[in-house]
Amino acid sequence: MKVVVIGGTGLIGSKLVSRLGGHGHEVVAAAPDTGVDTLTGAGLADALTGADVVVDVSSTPFSGDAAELFETSTRNLLAAEAVARVGHHVALSVVGTGQSPQSGYFRARSAQEKLIENSGMPYSIVRATQFHEFLPRMADSATDDGAVRLAPVLFQPVAGDDVTEAVGRISAGAPVNGIVEVAGPEQFRMDRFFRDLLAARNDPRTVVTDPHASYFGTSLGERTLLPGPNAILGTTHYRDRPDRTGGGNPTGDHAFLHELELTVRAELAEAEAGRLDEAATGLPIEQWLSDPAETQLYEAGLRGLLGAVEAVEEDSRPRDKDLWNRHGRR
Ligand SMILES: NC(=O)c1ccc[n+]([C@@H]2O[C@H](COP(=O)([O-])OP(=O)(O)OC[C@H]3O[C@@H](n4cnc5c(N)ncnc54)[C@H](OP(=O)(O)O)[C@@H]3O)[C@@H](O)[C@H]2O)c1
Repeated sequence: MKVVVIGGTGLIGSKLVSRLGGHGHEVVAAAPDTGVDTLTGAGLADALTGADVVVDVSSTPFSGDAAELFETSTRNLLAAEAVARVGHHVALSVVGTGQSPQSGYFRARSAQEKLIENSGMPYSIVRATQFHEFLPRMADSATDDGAVRLAPVLFQPVAGDDVTEAVGRISAGAPVNGIVEVAGPEQFRMDRFFRDLLAARNDPRTVVTDPHASYFGTSLGERTLLPGPNAILGTTHYRDRPDRTGGGNPTGDHAFLHELELTVRAELAEAEAGRLDEAATGLPIEQWLSDPAETQLYEAGLRGLLGAVEAVEEDSRPRDKDLWNRHGRR
């Protein structure tokens, strides 16, 4: 099968070219450096001749005109694919697309996805969460005058290798004519994650928790960056990255408590949180999610809260207690 990888010299693109090549496919790495430019259309017709699949993992700068760049590139690409009678268009997009219309970047992604969906071309859209490799840039772009302003929202970063594997499999398979999400195996609270990461790297910047912090031009909800329940989950944990310094364990030695907190919060999101009160947990509300350094109080608060959530839900629905059971509920 001939596969053209648009953006084939980039982070994901170059991994994908190796992976697909290793599986015996004829692969073309298409990018400005190899004479193919989707913005101008240069080199596209030649590159696509005889292609069965085109995988678009190209990227544009996070600038105000992102929409125009994405739309122009995608239009040029889809038009060239139609002429070459390509049988499958695969595009790598971002989890959260469609949820943040205030962001020029997310709007651009939505526009790109709509063009693909309406093209009549068999397609697969793969939305990924933030790449592990991208996290230092996230901190940089949130930095202002030595302070890294981040919202206390959840995110679920994924290793580039895991994204590549998912995109590779989907590219070699039948078009899904829909959206598939790919994410990492664990969730983190963004402000804490970066606070730990920067501290471990002796980075002098301070992380400021700001619920209204802008993330590429938009404010974030608690779960905006999280995938849905059917996402493909990568197996690479951030803490296992060979180049990792810090991060991946946002509560220091209390990773278990962090996971427990996430479980509680996930339960809370589904439960009628309003019915929980001090009487139900046996602890003052301000101590429910107190400083993880006060381990015993913190754990007691979380356990009390989870118990109360479960009591509220008792007869209403089956629950996934895997996480809880894995850690040996006592
Ligand atoms: N970073 C994240 O956390 C994240 C999360 C989810 C999804 N994504 C998306 O995943 C995709 C891949 O990301 P990545 O980190 O692998 O990107 P990357 O390393 O920046 O690579 C981008 C590639 O696109 C090529 N490119 C740029 N302009 C082009 C044009 N006009 N025509 C053809 N090729 C062009 C680049 O070539 P040159 O190097 O020659 O410019 C490069 O090969 C992107 O669409 C990105 O938005 C990223």
